[in-house]
Parts: sequence; C-alpha cells; structure tokens
Amino acid sequence: MKLEWILDFPIPFTLTSLMQAAADQTIRSEGIQLPCCASIHICDDHTIQNLNREYRHLDQATDVLSFPSTQWTEGKTAGLQQNRLKKSYDEVYGACFLGDVVLSIDHIKEQAAAFGHSEAREACYLLVHSLLHLMGYDHMESEERKKMREKEEEILQTIGIGREGEAVKVNDQILLDMARDAMSRSYSPYSHYPVGAALLCKDGRIFTGCNIENASFGCTICAERTAMVKAVSEGALEFEKIAIATRETPGWPCGICRQFMSEFAPNLQVIVTWQDGQFTESSSLDSLLPHQFDLKGNNE
Ligand code: THU
Repeated sequence: MKLEWILDFPIPFTLTSLMQAAADQTIRSEGIQLPCCASIHICDDHTIQNLNREYRHLDQATDVLSFPSTQWTEGKTAGLQQNRLKKSYDEVYGACFLGDVVLSIDHIKEQAAAFGHSEAREACYLLVHSLLHLMGYDHMESEERKKMREKEEEILQTIGIGREGEAVKVNDQILLDMARDAMSRSYSPYSHYPVGAALLCKDGRIFTGCNIENASFGCTICAERTAMVKAVSEGALEFEKIAIATRETPGWPCGICRQFMSEFAPNLQVIVTWQDGQFTESSSLDSLLPHQFDLKGNNE
C-alpha cells in the first residue's frame, strides 16, 4: 500500500515503517487485490482542532480524523465491493485512493502514556482504526464495534505489536500472502529468481525477507536468512514456521539456510508455495536436514 505522508515535523523512520507494515496488513486482511493508497497527515493538536472545526464543525482537538473517498454500501466493507473501489483509481499514484487520515501526535503521546503502551503501538492502532473506517467499517453498534476491535487487534498482533498475552492464531494463508508480498521486493538482477519468506515467531510476530543479490555473487543472502536475521536482531528467538514463496518451481531452502535456521528452530515447519499460490507443500526442518551439525551435541 502506498502511503503519502504529510509530516508537520520530523517523525522517526522506525515509526513510519511500522505504520507502513500496519497499513499493508490492514489491506491484506481485507482481501483487497487492487493496489491502494491513502494520505497520512501527522500534525499537532492545534492543527487537528482546526481541521475538526472546518470539516466536522467540532471545535476540539481529537486523536484521529478519517475522510473516506468512497461511499460504501451499508453493511459491506471494501473487500466485498472491489468494483466500487476500482472507481477511486488515481493515475498519479497508480493505485485506488482510499482517503485521508489525520493523526495528532499530542494525542498519540497522551493516549500511549494513559494505556501504558508504546507510542508506536498507539500510532499504529489509530492508523489501522482509521484505515478500517476508510474501508467502510463502523462502530456505531456494539456488534460492529466488536468486529472492528477484533480486526484491529489481529492486525496489530500480526505485525508484532499486539497486546501481550492475547496471541491471535495466525493462519497459513496470511503467512503465504506475506511471503509472496516479500517476494515482490526481491533484489535479484543476476539470477532473476525472486524468493520471499515470512517467518512466524512463537510470540505471534512475523518477520519477512527476500533474497538480496550482489555483483559479488557470494555476498548474496537468501530470503529465509534475511527474515531470520531480522527476527533475531529484534530479540525473537523462538520460531513456529516459515513460508517461502517462489515463482515457477518450489523453493525448498538451500543447505546454508537449512543449517542456519536449525540453529534456532530444528523442528521449524517449512511451507513452500509457488505459481502464485496454486501449489503448496510443507515439511519440517528436521526432515529436510537430518543429522544437523550441532556443536552443543558434539561437546556432550
Ligand atoms: N535463494 C533463496 O533466497 N533461498 C534459498 O534457499 C535458495 C536460493 C536465492 C539466492 C539467489 O538470490 C537466488 O535464489 C538464486 O540462487
């Protein structure tokens, strides 16, 4: 998903990239197949109060404002009305414009402190909430509110900033979709063999990776190791499964990746998917790498 940022002051890159992941997951969880975009304005309380007065005749600051570009049919969200979504296609972005979101940094800070969680979680929560509004979700009635809350939490959990102790079961489809998404970011100008991976940690976080090649061929890093290196460097050490996406033929991990991954998760479940998800097979790392090298075992 393309986000058009309007930042009234500098925002750390770590925050905007987490918000990007939250936006991507929101679109994915809605099952939208079309490219989408939205504008995200981060301002202070003073500016959001002015906007609230101008557009909603409410002279007060607030945490978030959402301005959808499409009028959805009652009771149906964007995923079920993709023909209507197509009408908001914007040539400049090359994507369907969902609408505008305005967030107040002052409210993000205050609410994060009040809830006792990070400002990143609060910013992502508000972004997901408003993107769901842009896609036709509402919370006027208690049933709708419950559905929206559950969806918000599932999205935040998937990108690794859910509420502790409320792990959501990530289904394989999400993992396979994320691996395919990661494959689209592959840097493989030499082999023209793109690979994407999505690694599910035991705590529910998902890290993605793609293969990154180099003019000095030996420097190349495979998709699986990219994902696992990202995870370990963020403090994740326990893993459940990995999905690996390739184009034409199944992309079972190479020998180096098998050894690398068995260091942390000898029983990792490995799912390969190819030909745009038409084919899927799974196996376990211990059967792909029997008698793996284990220094600890050797020293006993
Ligand atoms: N590749 C992976 O990403 N994972 C593997 O397990 C095997 C190979 C990549 C590396 C290189 O960019 C391309 O596939 C062709 O070898």
